[in-house]
Amino acid sequence: MNSEPHYLNAGLKFSNSELPAGKIIWRSPSNIALVKYWGKKPVQIPQNPSISFTLSKSYSETEVTYSPSVSGKLELEFYFDGQRNPQFEEKTVKFFESLSGIFPFVNQLKFVIRSRNTFPHSAGIASSASGMSVLTMVLCDMERQFFGTLQKEEAFRRKASYVARLGSGSACRSVYGGVVIWGETDGVPGTSDNYGFPVNEDIHEIFADYQDTILLVDAGEKKVSSRVGHGLMNSNPFAPGRFNQARTNLADLLPALRTGDTETFIRITESEALTLHAMMMTSQPYFLLMKPNTLQIIERIFAFRKKTGLPVSLTLDAGPNVHLLYPKAIKAGVKRFIDNDLLPFLSPKEYIDDEVGKGPEKIL
Ligand code: DP6
Repeated sequence: MNSEPHYLNAGLKFSNSELPAGKIIWRSPSNIALVKYWGKKPVQIPQNPSISFTLSKSYSETEVTYSPSVSGKLELEFYFDGQRNPQFEEKTVKFFESLSGIFPFVNQLKFVIRSRNTFPHSAGIASSASGMSVLTMVLCDMERQFFGTLQKEEAFRRKASYVARLGSGSACRSVYGGVVIWGETDGVPGTSDNYGFPVNEDIHEIFADYQDTILLVDAGEKKVSSRVGHGLMNSNPFAPGRFNQARTNLADLLPALRTGDTETFIRITESEALTLHAMMMTSQPYFLLMKPNTLQIIERIFAFRKKTGLPVSLTLDAGPNVHLLYPKAIKAGVKRFIDNDLLPFLSPKEYIDDEVGKGPEKIL
């Protein structure tokens, strides 16, 4: 059974004479799921546990300036890449309003939020993971600074992860570096449906700096939002089998991550990626998120692996871009493969050379 942490705290409120003003900046990375979260129950509880690599270079950097609210209610402006962004503003206002029991102080302040991503928005790279987790790092940081709570790093991260989950499920995994499980998992004490749980002590060194080169097939807007996609799992006829498969895949992947067994890693993670897309193709309405060039790239990865025997594999997010996963030791050879064989299929002709990273970082 999951025990729900008690984060409702009416005491986290300023007296009117002590309303603060200041600025906080955090960076928080995206993450790539190896066993995928696709399907949820209210409120933001996953239908199956998932596990991810936190990334390093694909992050959101968010500056939050706060001051006393003139209206006496939450006030918020959101700028993305220097431009006021009504869509993100509305989303963030809703998110902050939903947190008024957990962080009552948000209703007393005016926030001016300036955010940027180091990767294209809505391209199937989980921008909500970095975007939501960075906001919760800031809110927990404010709580720590002003109310003296969350002094212990573990408590700080756990609350940030719990709250990030409420904003976007995958975001709860970005609060930690390395390999993170979200969802109660047999045999892994500490895991929970409510927050992410890092499992780095057990992980083989080959995965500690595993590479993820993100091949941008199409950096345009996503055709299906995660919210809609998760919702479609409620009526997908294959959903119950899929949720069981994910549990089995996670149970089988963990030993491979511990022993450095790249063969099992590849078998499970590639199947997860293709199953995620199969779920979209078998939902009603159905979605096809791969592009012809996605398949061109996948075919070439399979052929390259067969020819060279190198442990190069792929995973996909809910979009057309391909994440190429491989050990750091073979980076030079993989770069030649990308530049010679895959570059023609990329649009724009670029890729993001990312790797497993350490998690969020406070900048100011
Ligand atoms: C395919 O976390 O974006 O990336 O909870 O509705 O915000 P919400 O969904 P989101 O879903 C991510 C789905 C995925 C798989 C994964 O990251 O596990």
